[in-house]
Amino acid sequence: MKKACFIVTAISSLWLSACSSSPQPKDKPVQWEEKTAGVWNVSVGTPEKFNLLSELQITPKYEAIQQMGEADLPISKEDICMEVVDGKTYIRFPLEKGEKIFGLGLNFKTVEQRGRIMRLHVDHYGGDDNGRTHAPVPFFVSSRGYGALINSARYMDAWIGTSVRKDSKNPPVTRDRNTDKDWEAQPYSDNLEFLVPAEGVEVILFGGPSMLDVVRRYNLYNGGGALPPRWGLGFWHRVPTLYSDKDVNKEVAEFEEHGFPLSVVGLEPGWMSRSYPCTYEWDKGRFPNPDDFVKGLNDQHIKTNLWMNPYVSPDGELYDKIEPYTGSHTVWCGIVPDYTLPQTQDIMTSHFEKHQLDKGVSGYKMDENDGYDSWLWPDVATFPSGHAAEQIRQVYGSLMQDVTTRMYRKRNQRTYGLVRASNAGTSSFPYVIYNDYYDHRDFITALINSSFIGILWTPEVRSSRNAEEWLRRMQTVCFSPVAQLDAWADGTKPWTFPEVEKEVREIALLRMQLIPYLYTAFADYAFKGIPPVRAMNLEEGYSAEATLQEGKLDATENPYAMAVRKEVKDQFMVGPSLLVAPLFAGEKERQVVLPQGKWFDFYTGKYVGEGEVIHVSPQLGRIPVFVKDGGIVPLWPAITKITREKHPLEIRHYGNKPAVYELYDDDGETFDYEKGEFTRIQLKVTNEQGKKSGEVLLPENGQVWSFRDFNFHFMTD
Ligand code: GAL
Repeated sequence: MKKACFIVTAISSLWLSACSSSPQPKDKPVQWEEKTAGVWNVSVGTPEKFNLLSELQITPKYEAIQQMGEADLPISKEDICMEVVDGKTYIRFPLEKGEKIFGLGLNFKTVEQRGRIMRLHVDHYGGDDNGRTHAPVPFFVSSRGYGALINSARYMDAWIGTSVRKDSKNPPVTRDRNTDKDWEAQPYSDNLEFLVPAEGVEVILFGGPSMLDVVRRYNLYNGGGALPPRWGLGFWHRVPTLYSDKDVNKEVAEFEEHGFPLSVVGLEPGWMSRSYPCTYEWDKGRFPNPDDFVKGLNDQHIKTNLWMNPYVSPDGELYDKIEPYTGSHTVWCGIVPDYTLPQTQDIMTSHFEKHQLDKGVSGYKMDENDGYDSWLWPDVATFPSGHAAEQIRQVYGSLMQDVTTRMYRKRNQRTYGLVRASNAGTSSFPYVIYNDYYDHRDFITALINSSFIGILWTPEVRSSRNAEEWLRRMQTVCFSPVAQLDAWADGTKPWTFPEVEKEVREIALLRMQLIPYLYTAFADYAFKGIPPVRAMNLEEGYSAEATLQEGKLDATENPYAMAVRKEVKDQFMVGPSLLVAPLFAGEKERQVVLPQGKWFDFYTGKYVGEGEVIHVSPQLGRIPVFVKDGGIVPLWPAITKITREKHPLEIRHYGNKPAVYELYDDDGETFDYEKGEFTRIQLKVTNEQGKKSGEVLLPENGQVWSFRDFNFHFMTD
């Protein structure tokens, strides 16, 4: 890997009139520093040493950022006001009319955040987008084409276009409530304000020009996106809590009988001798021979993923060793390791290695590191590192991801797992957030939001009131970062609703077929910072303005422009070309907003529209998926296991545009790709007067690990 290099062009910018109303004199000019192309940082006041990134071992991908080129900021740095007042840091960004703000945590109900007030605080999501969530990342992306990370591990307040200053440059109109029907309870605001309860903070700015570029720079600065092992993109099934080895093996055999794919089996708390708090040791009754059990699954190409939470039980061998490195308070009577300490990291790693990694376990589901408040240590707790309980809470999930990723990396083995808490700086960690909240629609909104803040999220499936809901939920999870059935409580099986067993099997198999496409999308996340599952707002050609320039209608008459201007919370992009528009139980039809350019039906290749709002009423077995003109989708056969075998590749091409697609391939399991051990296979389609042809271009000496027999399939006549 290339060593990080800093390009430091010190741009001194100032701290002037923007803060003119400050009650404190400003004695120090603020020094912005360009860290790398289009990324600047500044320290205001005296930032705390402990921040969201300081405890994590991440290396920015400077080279990839530099390849993106320089970027100008659409705002002047002088217009960002920062000051320390009364031991707290106050930061203000200007907002202009029509500007949209995205990000600021894993929100479940809203995509656009302008108009909201939040306290960003790690917690289990409780039903309100108030900042308490699994990943309250203090990073925003503005539709003007820039973003900022407020790098503090304190609970911080954000007023996102809600506050009005006396010295506002764009003040709202003062109206008389008695007589003016246009009076507003929340007048227009041109500020985005943060209050950090610390005497200073680092602010990192990311340039565009597009919002996707902002997100890419942010992800690359955080080490690039995660590249899961290939098996991680297969189908996952978590078994009920108290299953024994025999129960698991029986269920695995049933997957085979039903012709369902299976790549990972997840064991829930009952694999452990004690849980809540945990021993991280196998239960001798339910799993008398864990070595053979895990090996037996591995031999069938099924990986084992284990549930855990952070709290250590007095009944295991770990307790005495870790006790000196734990906090003052207990959770469920378990002690709380202070993961910021190297001693803790070493002790926990050795224990995990001995009891899990050496036995062949592929990864973890790291639960309960988020909250709820009454289930966590209080903010008055103390930790041996001396860090504040609040700060430890804000990064606990991130640290567990970092430590366990490094533990696997030491073996040159990739892992892929689940976690319930995260924050800034975790883009490169191979973990996907999940939770207990179970609203299908809101799950999709979270999927969209995850793409703004450098995290992965899964709308997991676990139970259902009826067959229709079951199928609809299965369809969406198969287009998410982890296709997982989490049957820990309900024991639901993919075939539990026989009326839709065939359709559920089809979608699970489609997930397996899509692995070459998904794996390439993840490689683009790792190397280029492009989120594999993305908000429509990050898609080129998806803007009201784009239509208005070309069209004759104005924004009030043009239904497309109106749709795009509204918050779209129920459709998203997967990889470069797929637009997924899920249906929810009870729905027979829905509208889909198609960005500019022609779009085609994934299943038939037929043209469906361009830059417009369409209505679709698909059969129950189909989740609406559309492909952009020139979209190439490489598909494996409908396999049920992920092995090291090479499979024939069907290369689907949609529409009529010539296209080039850089299919990614590597060994799928190790970190050798970081040393250059990977191949980009060029799949090229030309269209000479309506005659399409395809070509596969392999780089010289390029190794191919997972494909053979390339066949083009032109889906559109
Ligand atoms: C919950 C978790 C569930 C399941 C359960 C087991 O906290 O979100 O997915 O793992 O614990 O007790």
